[in-house]
Amino acid sequence: MTRLRRALRRTPAPPWLIAAYLSVRWRCRVSPSARVRYPLAVTLGRGARVGRATIIASGNGVELGTAVEIGDGALFDAQGGRITVGPRSAIGPFVVVYGEGTVSIGADVSIATHSTVVALNHIFDDRDSPIRRQGASARGIRIEDDVWVSANCVLVDGITLQHGSVVAAGAVVTKSVAPYTVISGIPAKFLRDRGPHDTAPHRQSTFR
Ligand SMILES: CC(C)(COP(=O)(O)OP(=O)(O)OC[C@H]1O[C@@H](n2cnc3c(N)ncnc32)[C@H](O)[C@@H]1OP(=O)(O)O)[C@@H](O)C(=O)NCCC(=O)NCCS
Repeated sequence: MTRLRRALRRTPAPPWLIAAYLSVRWRCRVSPSARVRYPLAVTLGRGARVGRATIIASGNGVELGTAVEIGDGALFDAQGGRITVGPRSAIGPFVVVYGEGTVSIGADVSIATHSTVVALNHIFDDRDSPIRRQGASARGIRIEDDVWVSANCVLVDGITLQHGSVVAAGAVVTKSVAPYTVISGIPAKFLRDRGPHDTAPHRQSTFR
């Protein structure tokens, strides 16, 4: 009997039940086909929506603000870090956010489909040992408010996208980006300023 009880405690609840619990608990909509591991480490804002077949694995916690939308098939795997998303942000279908570092996404951010935000780099200095055994570094990634990351972009560890910046489709972003700057390409480079305002104070950006 004790063994049965222990086995039952270890058996995870079915995804639809966890989704129903989270939807009621946080007054939001989690698709019954989404899979949320460690649901007690997840905080969801009122009116948030988590799409079909999305996977959320909480690590040190996943926090979605009010009215955040997570598209179908997205993966949020906080591993050793934490993932936070500010209010009204929209994360497109099949976006992947993971790594050992903390990823903080601000308010009113859009991240389009198939983009990857990866807060982790493997260490590979030693030729004589497999890269997989050399460990990893993770500084974290910060995306400030009102940023648009277009489709198929890759954001690597350690960067900050400052507020109002835009990343053109297909870019690989390896350096931090100044406010209201549009960048594109691999590696991403300055494309233009956004809008007519004088952005001279921000001209320290790596992309200028
Ligand atoms: C960046 C973008 C927004 C256009 O910005 P824009 O400033 O209006 O750019 P323009 O179309 O005037 O092009 C300016 C230059 O940038 C280049 N460019 C535009 N988009 C580019 C991209 N994704 N990668 C590389 N270069 C790009 C253009 O070829 C052009 O180069 P040229 O001056 O040598 O001819 C658009 O190209 C883009 O990438 N859209 C993303 C679409 C998407 O992912 N939507 C998802 C919806 S959530």
